[in-house]
Amino acid sequence: MTRVLAVDAERPDPDVIAEAASVITRGGLVAFPTETVYGLGANALDPAAVARVFEAKRRPATDPLIVHLAHIGQLARVARDIPPVARTLGLSFWAGPLTLILQKQPAIPDAVTAGRSTVAVRVPAHRVARALMEACGVPVAAPSANRFSRPSPTRAAHVLTDLEGAVDLLLDGGPATIGVESTIVDCTRTPPVLLRPGGITSEQLVTLLPDLIVESRLAAADEPQVAPGQLLRHYAPEAPLTVFVGAARAVQARMGADARTRVAQGQRVGILAPEEDVLALAPVLAAAAAGGRVLLRAYGRRSDPDAAAQALFDVLRALDAERPDVILAADVGQAAIGAAIRDRLMRAAEGRVIGVPEVPRGA
Ligand code: TXA
Ligand code: MG
Repeated sequence: MTRVLAVDAERPDPDVIAEAASVITRGGLVAFPTETVYGLGANALDPAAVARVFEAKRRPATDPLIVHLAHIGQLARVARDIPPVARTLGLSFWAGPLTLILQKQPAIPDAVTAGRSTVAVRVPAHRVARALMEACGVPVAAPSANRFSRPSPTRAAHVLTDLEGAVDLLLDGGPATIGVESTIVDCTRTPPVLLRPGGITSEQLVTLLPDLIVESRLAAADEPQVAPGQLLRHYAPEAPLTVFVGAARAVQARMGADARTRVAQGQRVGILAPEEDVLALAPVLAAAAAGGRVLLRAYGRRSDPDAAAQALFDVLRALDAERPDVILAADVGQAAIGAAIRDRLMRAAEGRVIGVPEVPRGA
């Protein structure tokens, strides 16, 4: 049985937080909101509790977890040989959506790090998350609170869909504000390497780290993983998803044509696209949409990547629940948090990517 407690995102009730902390310190699992996505938390120093996290998510033991702290002052408890660049990043972007890979302290169990000598560390900004870390008094290992390879949860309802019964307590603090996971930077390498684009943009990072290396995360599923979490299949809906990448008008034309072909073949087509694209496609696909053969669903706008990131997983999950045969998706470009959106859609697409040539300006 999963108990659900509502909690105010701005001013969490200390009694609810104390209750949640006692579940964690007794070896239980608590799902809680962070500013990025909901996390599934366990005492990071308790190997049995950490094992339950992997079991609940059906996550392979080879994929290590992020350790969450209440504040940067606790960093030396979990990491050692902390390079100056990590301190600079932590002081600049914590509390916030940034995860740093560092050498681990021996106290961190192998189960957390999948046997690696390094540990992923983050100080979340969300008030509920920080109050929980503070009340626990121990570092909290927390992956995203979704079943392995499913889209990450940005609402309490998503956590219940995936993990009802497998989690002791769920704190419902409303929708996550950022909507994609934290940015991961490996600080054990020189220069540091961006392993996952996320809530802190690479534009923000390069102001402090001009030599930051951006590593491609798109390893094929049958290749050995170059780094954990780099499997191509991830964030995947039930319906096969194809992502269209390019300038807005070219993408709209190509998606519209592709959707009509598929409808003619008898498929039910889900379209996940920014509002500009949905508005452009609506007249073209009106008849099929009226007949329920095309499901047009907007997530944010190309002109507002932050709103798109916030809505992405929520709209993807809702569309997938309508059981289309296929999903055609468009992204919002690569600027700012758009890079994280593109990364998640690429991985949901498992290689089904259609690059549409950019239309020259003024054309
Ligand atoms: O925003 C977030 O980061 C959310 C919230 C809950 O904090 N958490 C999250 O955790 O996204 P998860 O487990 O879904 O993603 C963690 C990623 C995985 O891809 C994992 O492989 C990588 O971090 N990771 C963890 N430890 C690592 C390590 N020592 N070296 C390299 N990558 C690591
Ligand atoms: Mg995850």
